[in-house]
Amino acid sequence: MNYSLRMCLILLSSFVYASFAANPRTPIDVPFGRNYVPTWAYDHIKYLNGGSEILLNLDKSTGTGFQSKGSYLFGHFSMFIKMVPGDSAGTVTAFYLSSQTAEHDEIDFEFLGNRTGQPYILQTNVFTGGKGDREQRIYLWFDPTQAYHRYSVLWNMFQIVFFVDDIPIRVFKNTNQLGGKYPFNQPMKIYNSLWNADDWATRGGLEKTDWSKAPFIASYKGFHIDGCEASVNAKFCDTQGKRWWDQPEFHDLDVAQWQRLRWVRQKYTIYNYCNDRKRYPQVPLECTRDRDV
Ligand SMILES: *[C@@H]1O[C@H](CO)[C@@H](O)[C@H](O)[C@H]1NC(C)=O
Repeated sequence: MNYSLRMCLILLSSFVYASFAANPRTPIDVPFGRNYVPTWAYDHIKYLNGGSEILLNLDKSTGTGFQSKGSYLFGHFSMFIKMVPGDSAGTVTAFYLSSQTAEHDEIDFEFLGNRTGQPYILQTNVFTGGKGDREQRIYLWFDPTQAYHRYSVLWNMFQIVFFVDDIPIRVFKNTNQLGGKYPFNQPMKIYNSLWNADDWATRGGLEKTDWSKAPFIASYKGFHIDGCEASVNAKFCDTQGKRWWDQPEFHDLDVAQWQRLRWVRQKYTIYNYCNDRKRYPQVPLECTRDRDV
């Protein structure tokens, strides 16, 4: 290979790498089997196009789910999901990270189904050391049953950000140094599942799952994981501080992202534990850090 061609290839590949490295939201399509395995009820998962897309089925006998092969300490994780269309009341579709330890850490997206034409609710939560109770609930600005949308988590030593497509819908800041709690030393796996939760999901359990509409089907693609792989017991990660999500631009939201988050809070938020003075007479510490003022 001559010199100029080689330089050109090097430049090109470093450009491709740099543009990905700087942008956690670059769409990444990988087949199911690269990063994931089924968790339970294997026969309720259908594989399309060689596993580039899968369908989870929920019927009266069971729901189903899948989990990442690896455990990760920090990184960027995303899933394209199309929620159960039509009557999905009583069903919950979840995409979450969990350490599954005795005092577990967890980062949750939970999509609560509804009657045909009624809006889904997206509930998010963060558990630290076995304690959750940090629910936020929003309506989405689109119908999540009509098309695929990308749901992502960015997790580093500074913040956890929940994204819907490119919009940050929640940020959870690390307040460890102020005495707060933050998940930072327990690797997590990524879990996805579809199950029946008609004891609480839709209108607080008032709407029951209509089994005459089964099977309920949620569709998945993307299967993107870009994290620091660690064994379940590892308390740190080899490359900590060196990966793209550790870099200064990911330590906080930028101005445009704060604006978008404010838009979600003003227009789409149903419930935010940060503002629930009955439940938390004192503002939880992490809530005092989650705005741009
Ligand atoms: C379902 O629809 C009802 C009526 O529009 C609404 O109050 C509720 O928030 C919706 N979502 C869920 C998950 O209950």
